[in-house]
Amino acid sequence: MPRHDITAPGPAASPKRDTREKLARASVVLHWLVAIAMIGMLAFGLYLSQMERGDAKSALVQVHKSFGSLVLFLVMARIWWRVRQGALAPIGNHPRWEQITAKASHHFLLFATIAMPLTGFIRSIGRGRSIDIFGFPFIPQLLAERNDTISAIGSTAHEVIAYATLAVLAIHVTAAFKHHVIDRDGTLRRMLGARVA
Ligand code: HEM
Ligand code: HEM
Repeated sequence: MPRHDITAPGPAASPKRDTREKLARASVVLHWLVAIAMIGMLAFGLYLSQMERGDAKSALVQVHKSFGSLVLFLVMARIWWRVRQGALAPIGNHPRWEQITAKASHHFLLFATIAMPLTGFIRSIGRGRSIDIFGFPFIPQLLAERNDTISAIGSTAHEVIAYATLAVLAIHVTAAFKHHVIDRDGTLRRMLGARVA
């Protein structure tokens, strides 16, 4: 009778590194955690930008700053992991323009996940404020008083990159469903953790 190697991964097990057929569990978990965090933070920021100034808004801005700072730690882990793994191998034979657009949008989304928290910091620093994470000191007040130039650079960049991210995300999500429904390839299923042919 043949002996089975019980330490060998079965068909359902996740590889330690991304392969074309199946992604490492860390790649899947980090993609979806950061996706939920970014979509939540974008919606939160847009909600804040519609609010009238006042105590209620100030309290929510503190919550936004705290969650936004925490997201940066998650994003650093995600980018470290992605750089170690390299880019995902595409599935199927898609035209070159599609592959280039996919690559460019993935790079932009990774950039945005870092740029949003950092421009938020620049905005707050420029206004002469400190940054706490739910009451715990994180970045102290670095400027004695408000600096309009630094504050304007931070807030303009925070806003412009937020809207650009929403536009790229619309393409990203449409592309994911196009792969699933029209091309019927495994691109979306692989990002959900499935093994694909
Ligand atoms: C409902 C929302 C989302 C869906 C359905 C989705 C779907 C996918 C799919 C199917 C892939 C695999 C692409 C491939 O194999 O070439 C992917 C990759 C990727 N997605 Fe998303 N995504 C969503 C939200 C987001 C968000 C909010 C971000 C970041 C702001 C993001 C950033 C990325 C990046 C950077 C990649 C490249 C691979 C990686 O680094 O993990 N996605 N996404
Ligand atoms: C993942 C991270 C983040 C995302 C996706 C995000 C997103 C947004 C969006 C969409 C807006 C509304 C557009 C605008 O007026 O700029 C906003 C506003 C704002 N964000 Fe963020 N943000 C993030 C992190 C941070 C961080 C780390 C800080 C500060 C430490 C911060 C501070 C602010 C402030 C002060 C506002 C303005 C609220 C107002 O007065 O209208 N954000 N954010």
